Amino acid sequence: MSEISAEQQEREGALVDRVLASFSGTPDPRTKELVEALTRHLHAFLRETRLTEEEWKRAIDFLTAVGHLTDDRRQEFILLSDVLGASMQTITINNEAYANATEATVFGPFFVAGSPDVGLGGDVAAGASGEPCWVQGTVTDTVGTPIPGARVEVWEADAEGRYDVQYDDDRVTGRGHLHTDDQGRFRFWAVTPTPYPIPDDGPVGELLRATRRSAMRAAHLHLMVEADGFRTLVTHVFPRGDAYLDSDSVFGVRDSLVIDVHQQVPTTPTPDGREVTGPWALIDVDLVLAPAPRPSDAGSGAAVR
Ligand code: BEZ
Ligand code: FE
Repeated sequence: MSEISAEQQEREGALVDRVLASFSGTPDPRTKELVEALTRHLHAFLRETRLTEEEWKRAIDFLTAVGHLTDDRRQEFILLSDVLGASMQTITINNEAYANATEATVFGPFFVAGSPDVGLGGDVAAGASGEPCWVQGTVTDTVGTPIPGARVEVWEADAEGRYDVQYDDDRVTGRGHLHTDDQGRFRFWAVTPTPYPIPDDGPVGELLRATRRSAMRAAHLHLMVEADGFRTLVTHVFPRGDAYLDSDSVFGVRDSLVIDVHQQVPTTPTPDGREVTGPWALIDVDLVLAPAPRPSDAGSGAAVR
């Protein structure tokens, strides 16, 4: 690319300054900080890439298509944020590592409020296709004290790689919640997690194909744990050995969340005596909660230390 003359740089820089100055009267300091930083970074991108007018129009068309596809059931903007790593970066900023607390990862678009209470030992799968998988563990604080009564929310895709809400009927499968017992323990039946593609029939899918990226998510089980006095944990567990651990399309994998899935032969008795015709699996996972941030930390992204 040809050198950019000092005069041209001056003109471009002056425009950035004018835009920044236009926000100088913003009363809310945080809004001011955000719009100013957005202006600086957006103009830096435009100037660094020497973006053409044709490219800017394509970018606008792309964002327009993302908007048109977004409705109550399909959130293409969140998907875009996910594949750009912006969701995971925001989670990383706002869930600072705290001692040995279990790490957080992406929430994803398939959580539905109001899942059934399956109770301890209950069946979260509720007819979802897949290999039966017994999941058990304990919820504790960071010094190992059990947390009784913690709400453990679970949701997952079936063996076809689909969540219940992706079917055209009203089934409620692969989701549920339960509460830990007086020793902080939980246990439930689910299905062994399988990898699946994120929805790729829209502009985000086009972006992935244009950049030769895979839409596949590493196999995972979603968990959300809530307890009074503790930071809400939104996380996954990822089976060790999954083919997509290093290329998860939304950058959600953290090494500490990769767990062993213990495969069982059909004749092995199940932990609760349930009759299972065929192989089944067992996951043992302990979940450690960080203390809730103090009110004075609100908005700072900082955890109590
Ligand atoms: C999910 O895990 O369900 C998910 C996360 C991000 C984008 C699409 C799906
Ligand atoms: Fe998922």
